[in-house]
Amino acid sequence: MTTTVAVAARGLRRQFPLEGGGIVTALDGVDLQINAGEIVAIVGRSGAGKSTLLNLIGAIDRGYDGELTVFGQELRRLNERQLARFRNRQIGFVFQSFNLLPGLTVGDNVMLPASFGAEMPDSMVRTRAHHLLDEVGLGDRFNQPPMQLSGGERQRVAIARALLLEPPLLVCDEPTGSLDTATADQILQLFQDIRQKRGTTLVLVTHDPAVAKSADRLVRLERGRIVGTTLEAP
Ligand SMILES: Nc1ncnc2c1ncn2[C@@H]1O[C@H](COP(=O)(O)OP(=O)(O)OP(=O)(O)O)[C@@H](O)[C@H]1O
Ligand SMILES: [Mg+2]
Repeated sequence: MTTTVAVAARGLRRQFPLEGGGIVTALDGVDLQINAGEIVAIVGRSGAGKSTLLNLIGAIDRGYDGELTVFGQELRRLNERQLARFRNRQIGFVFQSFNLLPGLTVGDNVMLPASFGAEMPDSMVRTRAHHLLDEVGLGDRFNQPPMQLSGGERQRVAIARALLLEPPLLVCDEPTGSLDTATADQILQLFQDIRQKRGTTLVLVTHDPAVAKSADRLVRLERGRIVGTTLEAP
C-alpha cells in the first residue's frame, strides 16, 4: 500500500511584526511530515507556537516562509479565494475559541460549511447535521442558540460542524479543553471511529495527557521548534 502524505513542512517559519517594531518568530524552521490516516498530537507550553502551526496546516494563514504542502498542495501558491475553497473541501477546523456564530441556531452552525458551494443536497446536509449532533450527545439542541449552551456543549457543536463535509484532514486546537473526562473520552472515540471509517488524518493540539495518549505520535514544540517526536505518547 502506498502512503499518502497529508502534511509536509520543510523549514517552515512564521514571523509576526510587533506593534512598535520588532518581530516575533512563532515558528522557527519546522520540519514535519504527517501521513494520511495518522493521529498526531502537538504539545508544548503556552506560546510555543502550537496554534500558529495549526493555523498554517489548517490553511487559515499562509504568511509563512519555507515549504508547506497539504495533500500535495503548496498553500502559499493559492490566492485567498482558492485557499478558502481548499479549506472548505479538505479541512475541518475546531478553533480554540469554537467560533460559533451567535445569530444562528446550533443546527445552522453545524450546517454552515455546506453553504459555501458544497455539492450536497439540503436534505442530506440536514440529516448529517442531526446525526453528528447525536454523535456528540447534543441531538436535542438543534434549534437552540449557542449562547444557551455550556462551554463544553459549544465545543462539541464546533466539532460536529468541522465534521459535516467529511474532510480528509481534521485540525483541532484543544478539542477537549472544556470537556470532563467522560465526555472527552467520547469525543476521542468519535475521532478514532472516523479515522477508522474514512482514513481521516487528525492533527490535535492538546494539554490533556489522555488526548496525547490516544494519538499515534506526539510532536513537542518549544519556542517555535520541534524538540521531540515520539512514536508513542508517554
Ligand atoms: N497574530 C500574531 N501577532 C503577533 N504575535 C503572535 C500572533 N500570533 C501568535 N503570536 C505569537 O507567537 C507565539 C506563539 O503563539 P501561539 O498562539 O502559536 O502559541 P500556543 O503554543 O498556541 O500557546 P497556547 O498554549 O497559549 O494557546 C506567541 O509568542 C504569540 O504571542
Ligand atoms: Mg494556542
